Amino acid sequence: MLNKNLITCLILAVVLSINAFGQDNIQTEPQKTLKEAYANKFLIGTASDLRGLSDAELANVKSQYHILTPENCMKPQPLQPSEGKYNFGIADTLVNWCQANGIMVWGHTLAWHSQTAPWFFQAENPETEEAPQPFRRPGMGWDPNAPRPTMAEMWRRSIKGDMASREVALDRLEKHIKTVVGRYKGRIIGWDVFNESIADGGDGKTENLRDFSWYEVVGPEVLTLAFKWAHEADPDAQLYYNDYNIEQGAVENKGKHASSMLLLKRLLAEGAPITGVGIQGHWHLDTDLADVEKAIVNYASLGLKVAITELDVTATGDNSGAFGFGQGNRTIPQENYIKQAEVYQKLFEIFMRHSNVIDRVTLWGISDTRSWRRGQDALLFDGQLKPKPAFKAVIDASSN
Ligand code: GLA
Repeated sequence: MLNKNLITCLILAVVLSINAFGQDNIQTEPQKTLKEAYANKFLIGTASDLRGLSDAELANVKSQYHILTPENCMKPQPLQPSEGKYNFGIADTLVNWCQANGIMVWGHTLAWHSQTAPWFFQAENPETEEAPQPFRRPGMGWDPNAPRPTMAEMWRRSIKGDMASREVALDRLEKHIKTVVGRYKGRIIGWDVFNESIADGGDGKTENLRDFSWYEVVGPEVLTLAFKWAHEADPDAQLYYNDYNIEQGAVENKGKHASSMLLLKRLLAEGAPITGVGIQGHWHLDTDLADVEKAIVNYASLGLKVAITELDVTATGDNSGAFGFGQGNRTIPQENYIKQAEVYQKLFEIFMRHSNVIDRVTLWGISDTRSWRRGQDALLFDGQLKPKPAFKAVIDASSN
């Protein structure tokens, strides 16, 4: 009996000392946050509209990030679904919460071909009860067997009646930009002025602007005008051109990257008050990192700042562009998360090497479940906000 008690006591003592050791470890090695790790290098951001987040998620935003990009609520359609009828509710709440919690705000996006209401481009806009449906690029829920209309065809179908004249469309854009930028003057540090102007699949010999929306109704000069109007409304705001896959082809100066260089050089020549380029950074396990680094160098050579504006690295699926929906695969092998951590680490090592020109790195979502690529586990925290191997890799890259 005595022996049994003695053995039980010994086991208990060992267990307690192991626990105490574990506790000690946790206390002496507090985990750095992302914003602490990159404090003097560049801003670290995330994207969310904040609506519906749990207290734990809000606490995560507060502790990890310097800056927030609204994921949807400041796009043209949500802000101005019909002419002159602005919905600032969600955006105002977001900006107020960020100000109260010491987080900066990045505005996204003043002009885009997607998530923009058709009224901008229609000659007549009869008063309707029903809010017009925004034009959206084809994505989730598309029948893969049906012949797929081009984006230009889809956009034309969304326009009712005659097309607005160039002057009318420009007047609407100027009002939209000045109203929105003016409202948040001094409270939003910068804006994505134009988003995704360059079409996919070009050879890089031209700017290869999309052949519909603003580019059809107004023409290429719409970008320069938009930058000027945004600057007039808030001369202190940083103004960016933002796009996906524009790093592709950088090493050989071809494809979408070459088009982006032509576009940016023209904007500069036309006197557009442009601060920088946003490389969205919707990447995957095999993204060409040499292209990423060369693109940063090339943009900096134009005298522009660079931001990585929508970073995510899918743990499964090879898509790196804007059409990520539905590629998820529920059983992602563990080794993919390790590879994902390696890719994140290499990316942040590149960002560190060029931290003199990089202003901001924003992750597109706060966790694998708060992500447009849900199912591809593309972010640094899992759905329970537990840091993934990729989180540690990003922290490690800050001290290399
Ligand atoms: C693009 C846009 C973002 C967002 C993502 C998908 O990258 O710039 O605003 O719509 O697609 O979430």
